[in-house]
Amino acid sequence: MSYFLWDDKYAFGIDSIDEDHKVLVSLINQLYVAMSQGKARAVISGIVTQMVDYAKVHFRREEFFFKGISYTESAEHKAEHDAFSNRVADFKTELDAGNVGISIEVISFLREWLTNHILVSDKKYVAAFKKFGIK
Ligand SMILES: [Fe+2]
Repeated sequence: MSYFLWDDKYAFGIDSIDEDHKVLVSLINQLYVAMSQGKARAVISGIVTQMVDYAKVHFRREEFFFKGISYTESAEHKAEHDAFSNRVADFKTELDAGNVGISIEVISFLREWLTNHILVSDKKYVAAFKKFGIK
């Protein structure tokens, strides 16, 4: 049983975005497994780094599409991405400093944030992306 179970309600039918979201969900699950197995700090930190890097790729992709279609809610959406990136960078600093006590906080934040971001914020651009033929 995964910590973050993928569900079809998260799929928009826009392949590039759906694949990105699946990668992020998979990284959250890998992080959960590593934490619950008490893996070394370096392993946990490595997965967080992969997540930060992949989130960056994914956010850039969305923001590139926003620009292409002159998406009206681009600024608010980008602000959410930036807040997420800053928060995760802070977590990583804490983890690297040896504060593993925040593990549960990190993992639940990641799951809650991504669930909410997909279902509320990302969902808003789906019709516009489809209208412009973004796949
Ligand atoms: Fe987004």
